[in-house]
Amino acid sequence: MGTLLSVSELERFYEIRRTVFSLKKETVRAVDGVSFDLEDAQTLGIVGESGSGKSTLARCISFLEPADRGDVTFMGRDWLRVPSKERKTLRPQMGIIFQDPYSSLNPRKRVARIISEPLEAREGSSQRELLRSKAIEALEDVGLGEDFLDKYPHEMSGGQRQRIAIARALSTRPRFLIADEPVSSLDVSVQAQIINLFLDLKERLSFAMLFISHDLNIVRFISDHVMVMYRGKIMEMGPAEDIFQTPFHPYTRMLTGRESNGDAPSAEPVLEHQGRPGCVFFSRCPERNKHCQTEVPRLSGPGSHRAACLQYAP
Ligand SMILES: Nc1ncnc2c1ncn2[C@@H]1O[C@H](COP(=O)(O)OP(=O)(O)O)[C@@H](O)[C@H]1O
Ligand SMILES: [Mg+2]
Repeated sequence: MGTLLSVSELERFYEIRRTVFSLKKETVRAVDGVSFDLEDAQTLGIVGESGSGKSTLARCISFLEPADRGDVTFMGRDWLRVPSKERKTLRPQMGIIFQDPYSSLNPRKRVARIISEPLEAREGSSQRELLRSKAIEALEDVGLGEDFLDKYPHEMSGGQRQRIAIARALSTRPRFLIADEPVSSLDVSVQAQIINLFLDLKERLSFAMLFISHDLNIVRFISDHVMVMYRGKIMEMGPAEDIFQTPFHPYTRMLTGRESNGDAPSAEPVLEHQGRPGCVFFSRCPERNKHCQTEVPRLSGPGSHRAACLQYAP
C-alpha cells in the first residue's frame, strides 16, 4: 500500500470565444488548482454538475491532453514530464473507461480486436494465441462468454458495450482505472448491474480507481473517498460516509438534495465571474455573506474531511 497517484495544483484553462463573432477571447478555468492523493486499491469518487471540470481533470491525468500547470506523480514518476518511451511502458498500468461506450468502441472492429488493443500494444501482435486467451479471460471478468469475441458493438446492448469497455480497460491488469461517467448513459436497472460489476472486479483485481459521476448517489456506494468539484475547484473532499452524513459545503448539500435554491443543475461557468476574487459558488449560494464575494475560501477542515467555504472554516 502507498500513494499511487498524486495530483498537485493542476490547472487547465481554455481560451474561448463566446460566439463566432466575438473579438475578445475569454478564459474558462476548467481545472483550477486541483490537488489530491490516491492510495493503492482505493476508490476516489469525483462528483459535480456538468461543466465542473471532471472530464478535463481525467483527460489531463491520463495524458489525453496536456495540463497547463501543476504536477501529476504516478507510480513514483513525474508523469507529465517523463520521456514518452517511459510513459508508454507505464500506460498499461492505467485503464480508462468513458461515458458513452458506443462512441468509445470502434464500430468497425469486432470485440476480439477491441479488447486486445491495449494488450497488443504491450505484447506485440505476433502473440495471437496469447491475445485470444487473454481476451477470453477479460470477457469472463465482466460476465460475458467467448461468443462475444466475434460481435460488433452495434450487435450488443448498452450494458454489454460498457462491459466490453471495462474488459478492455482491465485487460492489462492495470493498478489504476479512470472511469468517467461509466454508467451515465445506461438505464437505471443496468446502472446497478454495472456498479456491482465494478465492486466485484475491485475486490478480485484490487486496482485503485477514479470514479467520476454527476450523480452523488452513484458515487456513494463505490467510493472510499469523495471529492466534490465546481467550476474547476474542489469544494469539499473527505471519507465518503462523512461527505454524505455531514456535508459541510452548501454546494454538496445541494447535490445531496437536502437544499435547493431552484437553479437549473449546471455548472457551466458564468464567464464574467472567472478570475474574480471570492467564492466561485457565490452567485448560487443560499448561505453567502459579504465576505464570500471577496475572499477566496481555502480547502480546510477537521482531519481529512475538508471544505472550501468561509462559513465552515474551522
Ligand atoms: N476542448 C475544450 N475547449 C473549450 N472549453 C472546454 C473544452 N473542454 C471542456 N471545456 C469547458 O471546460 C469546462 C469543464 O468541462 P468538463 O471537464 O467537460 O466538465 P464535466 O466533465 O464536469 O462536465 C466546461 O465549461 C467546458 O465547456
Ligand atoms: Mg464530463
